[in-house]
Amino acid sequence: MDFFKLIKWRRSVRKFAPRAIEREKLIQILEAARIAPSSSNRQAWHFVVIDDKRLIEQIPKQVVLGERMAAAFLKDAPCVIAGCYTRALTHHLARLFKHENYLVDVSIAMHQISLAAAALGIGSCYVGWFHTRKLKKLLGIPPHYSIAVLLGLGYPAEPSTEEAIGGVPARVRKAFDDVVSHNIYGNKL
Ligand SMILES: Cc1cc2nc3c(=O)[nH]c(=O)nc-3n(C[C@H](O)[C@H](O)[C@H](O)COP(=O)(O)O)c2cc1C
Repeated sequence: MDFFKLIKWRRSVRKFAPRAIEREKLIQILEAARIAPSSSNRQAWHFVVIDDKRLIEQIPKQVVLGERMAAAFLKDAPCVIAGCYTRALTHHLARLFKHENYLVDVSIAMHQISLAAAALGIGSCYVGWFHTRKLKKLLGIPPHYSIAVLLGLGYPAEPSTEEAIGGVPARVRKAFDDVVSHNIYGNKL
C-alpha cells in the first residue's frame, strides 16, 4: 500500500480476532522498530513481545485508572509489545537542555511497529495508562529500563474496508492551521 494511503488508513484497533500473529510477520514488524532512527543512533530501547495469554490478561489489571477504562481491550490482544527505554549518556546531556530524546526515540520506533503492522493488515492500539512499577515487575523488566508505552496488536475482529483497518471510523483531527505555523508561531503556511 502507498505510504500516504497507509497513514490515513491506520486506526487504533481495539477489537481483535482470536488469531495469532504469524512469527515471520511479527519479526518483520519488529525489524521496523530495530531500524528506526534514534538520537545519536543510541538505540537505547528494548521491545518486550508478550504473547502468553495468561500474562496478557494480567496487564489490564495493572492499569492505574482501572481495568475498564483505558486498557480492557488488551486482554483479547494476541500480542502486546512493551516499548522500553533507557538513557544513554547523550540522553542525559540533551536533558540538560530539556530535550527528552529517549522518549522521542522509543516513540518513533513504536510507531514504525504500528505502521508496519497496519501494512500487513494487523491492527494495533497504544496504551499509555499503566502503573509502570507494577508492569515492570510483571514483565521482569530490569531496573535501568522504563516503559514508554504498550501496543496491543492483532488481526482486527471487524473486516477492513477502503476507509480503515478493522473498519474503525476516523477520529476528528484539528484543522491544519491550528497545528502548523510558518516561520513564526501563529503565522499560516
Ligand atoms: C501515547 C498514546 C497513548 C494512548 N493510550 C491509550 C489508552 O490507554 N487506551 C486507549 O484505548 N487508547 C489509547 N491511545 C489511542 C488514542 O486514543 C488514539 O490514537 C487516538 O484517539 C486517535 O485515534 P486513531 O489512532 O484511531 O487515529 C493512545 C495513543 C497514544 C499515542
